[in-house]
Amino acid sequence: MSRVKLAPSILSADFTRLGEQIREAEAGGADWVHVDVMDGHFVPNLTIGPLVCAAARRASQRVIDVHLMIEHPERYLEAFAQAGADHLTVHVEACPHLHRTVQQIRELGVKPGVTLNPATPVESLSEILPYVDLVLVMSVNPGFGGQSYIPTSTAKIAKVRRMLDALGRADVELEVDGGVTPANAHAVVAAGATALVAGNAVYNAHAPVAENLRRLREAAEGAGAS
Ligand code: DX5
Ligand code: ZN
Repeated sequence: MSRVKLAPSILSADFTRLGEQIREAEAGGADWVHVDVMDGHFVPNLTIGPLVCAAARRASQRVIDVHLMIEHPERYLEAFAQAGADHLTVHVEACPHLHRTVQQIRELGVKPGVTLNPATPVESLSEILPYVDLVLVMSVNPGFGGQSYIPTSTAKIAKVRRMLDALGRADVELEVDGGVTPANAHAVVAAGATALVAGNAVYNAHAPVAENLRRLREAAEGAGAS
């Protein structure tokens, strides 16, 4: 099987030493740096903006994977592009003119992604799939790290995989975000995911970042994974 991309979420990192925590993840084999942007409106939490995204960009050679959990994301696309985002992913629930928003992201020279809350049906992707480079399936309700994986997400990932197959879009990344751990990574990848976000499974007090990443990769790609 092809190499699964691991995208540690810096939301769970120690912000007093963010650069160091990003470099630990890089050294441990992280492929992307996942940046969770929340506005206190679309989701109940407030997190980080373009300044911290730019700091992550300076700390890392890896892909900066920005997840915008904000209303009116079109207002901030340019700021995050200038902050060094490689991917900008917007929620379908936050974008009444999703096609326009996706085009704006592409015009900024950034790869556009779209994402769905757990209760949003995959059918809402059907008209936009031809235009995106990434689909993110939320496997928790967005807003906080450290929540439990919603079990029905696995079938949802498989549905998106079938939609992409039907379109012949094997090039689109299928990313999964929320409650991903070594215990479920195998099933998530077997359902068709190509990229795994992990916050608390990577940044925690139990083990060093590199060891947590190694465990996650072994689970995701190990023997038995289809
Ligand atoms: C949730 C965020 C996620 C989250 C991941 O709103 O989008 O990226 O922080 O953290 P874990 O892996 O701890 O669920
Ligand atoms: Zn996220």
